[in-house]
This record gives sequence, C-alpha cells and structure tokens, in this order.
Amino acid sequence: MNVFEKTENFVMKTYNRFPVVFVKGRGSWLYDDKGKKYLDMLAGIAVCNLGHCHPAVSDAICDQARKLIHVSNLFHIETQAELAELICENSFGEKVFFCNSGAEANEGAIKLARRYGTEKNPEKYEIVAFRQSFHGRTMAAVSVTGQGKYSEGFGPMLTGVKFAEFNNLDSVKEVVSERTAGIIVEPIQGEGGIVPAEEEFLEGLREIADEIDAILIFDEVQTGIGRTGKIFAYQHYGVEPDVMTLAKALGNGVPIGAIVAKGKAADVLKPGLHASTFGGNPLVTRAGVEVMRIVSDEGFLREVERKGEYLRKGLEELRDRFPGVIDYVRGKGLMVGAVCKIPCVDIVKSALEKGLIINCTAGNVLRFVPPLVITEEEIDYGLKILEEVLKEHEG
Ligand SMILES: Cc1ncc(COP(=O)(O)O)c(C=O)c1O
Repeated sequence: MNVFEKTENFVMKTYNRFPVVFVKGRGSWLYDDKGKKYLDMLAGIAVCNLGHCHPAVSDAICDQARKLIHVSNLFHIETQAELAELICENSFGEKVFFCNSGAEANEGAIKLARRYGTEKNPEKYEIVAFRQSFHGRTMAAVSVTGQGKYSEGFGPMLTGVKFAEFNNLDSVKEVVSERTAGIIVEPIQGEGGIVPAEEEFLEGLREIADEIDAILIFDEVQTGIGRTGKIFAYQHYGVEPDVMTLAKALGNGVPIGAIVAKGKAADVLKPGLHASTFGGNPLVTRAGVEVMRIVSDEGFLREVERKGEYLRKGLEELRDRFPGVIDYVRGKGLMVGAVCKIPCVDIVKSALEKGLIINCTAGNVLRFVPPLVITEEEIDYGLKILEEVLKEHEG
C-alpha cells in the first residue's frame, strides 16, 4: 500500500487532503516525494514562522532529544521556566501555563475566566465571543467559535456563551452583564477571513471588561510570535488583555500552547485546578526558547513589517490587474488576506499544481501566512505564480 491507500484505510477521514506528500523542508520551501519544489506561503497554517527546519530550532530539538524529553510537571523544568520568562519579558504577561495546542489553551483560558467569575458569584460564568471567530475544536473552544458549521451535531454546547458582532461595540453591550466572566476575541480573525479588529473596538472591550470585572482574553494562537510584525498582535493596539492564548508558531512545528496572564488573572489557577501531562515539557519548551529568542529581535520584526508591506503591495497590483477576481487586500505584517469576488478553492488548487502553497479561508479569502524568513525574491516568485493562476481564473 502507498501512503494514499494507507491514509484512506487507516486514518480517520477528518481532513480533505491534497494528493501531495512532502518529504523535506528548508526555509520557505517544501519538496515532495517526486522531488518537485514548492514555495510555502502557508507555513503549516502560520506555524513554521521561522521556516522549515530552521537550523537553530532543529539543532536545539536534536540536542534536547538526546538529553531529556519529558519528566512531568511534578518537577521543575529549566527550559519551561526560561520560556515562561521570555514570554513575560516580551509581553504584558506575568505568569504562563503551558499546554499542547490552541484549542487547549483556549479551553484553559475559558476555565480560568469561569473560575475567576464564579469565585465572586456562582452566576458569573458567561463568556462573550464573536461571530466568525475560530478558537479550536474541543468542546469549550467550539462553543465559543462563532461559526455554526463547527458545532453542528455536537450539541449541547457550553451553557452561557453569548455571541456579539466583531468590531461592533453596541452589539457587545447588548450581551454583557454582571454575569459575564470572560470576553474572548482574536485581534485579527484568522479563519474568519483575516479581519483585523479596529483599535476603538479593542479599547472598548477593555473598558467593558473592566466595568463588569470580566477577564479579557485575546486569542493570539494565529496572530502571535511575530506574525503581524510585532511579537504579539495586541502590541499594535494600545490595549492589553488579562489573558492571551498562544500555540501554532511558539514551537515552530513542535506542539506547544500557552496561556499568558497578568494581574487578577495571573493567580486564578492554583495547584490542582488545571493541568496537562505533556504541557511545557523539556523538548517543546527548548524549541520555544529558540523561537522566542529569534523572533523577539527588533530587526527581525522590522523585516516582517517591511516584507508584509511588500507582499501587500504586490497583491494590490494583482488586484488592479485582475479586478474580476480580487476585490481588496487586508491584514497586518505577514498575515495577509486577498478577498476575492469568487470562491477561491480552485485558485488554491491551481497554485499548488504550479508549485505555490496558499490556502483559502472563509470561502473567498486567499490567505498568505508565509514563513517570516521569506525573502523579497521569494515573494516575487509566489506572486508570479499567482499571476499565472489569476489569468486562468479571470474569465
Ligand atoms: C485563532 C485560533 N485559535 C485557536 C486555534 C486552534 O488551534 P489548534 O488547532 O492548535 O487547536 C486556531 C487554529 O487555527 C486559531 O487560528
């Protein structure tokens, strides 16, 4: 049996996969089992921010794998403590809890908010979330995800979740109350179509959360770790949350998630209240330390911003040339969406055939989240392929 047959026979069919098998990756490039090379402008869905097999990260992982992989959180772990310190030094954070994924980080953040609320008043357990949001696939995470397709058939959902309109403070005011324990929001909705929050919206959420004494949670699973040109996207706005969730790029490909908290949220989760067997083990946190050291460099982040502008300009030129396909371009740093006038699945397929990896989110948004180490020449290469694809889809 080949890999396709084995997958078909033995792997649960939860994904529609493209018929490609990648066997090697370097920087912004992936190579399939036939030796064909692809420019990766998706980075494993905003995970490999330092590119594939970044030498410093791969060396650290190999070295750590020979020394110590796992011991459990019954003991102190050097690399975990170091990564927590690095995250706090580079953010509003005061304390960090480590887990394994974005959904798990959000699950924990929701538990944290509920615990905070119900210690004040047993009725203070409601969570306010936003339409078109995405927070992951566990029960609490789908419960706060504002897209029905993810929760259909899995009900009942968590009780006490209220949805408001993203970038609409009036709609938030309609659903919050003294019973609200937490508000969870993505600074830029990723799966929802690369939709940045407006500054006044996040400022307003901060004021509302303070008024009703609720925990403000920013889900930075997709926007974090340099993706937008700042280490964390909230740093573009003059607003700090009480809690931020991280995952995806924190390990550049090894599974790690984190809940970062400050002030009233920092000490809610006491011994025995929350845990995760693998959370923050020596292997993944060693990778995380390398990632944070590289990404927190000012020069590196300035480059992300500059290359983001370059990509955006290139996409806007394509929009001007193909106005029947691309409507407009939005995003921050190297998290860019080209909003199309047509469904864009076929564009993604044609691009892949020509050696360019991008994806489609929200049905009609082409998502570009390349490795942050991508060069201008590589961006040009990707835009050239996209141009050829757009020519085919123009009519
Ligand atoms: C904003 C956001 N939150 C949470 C998640 C879920 O993360 P994971 O798939 O690691 O559980 C994602 C994944 O795409 C995401 O984009």
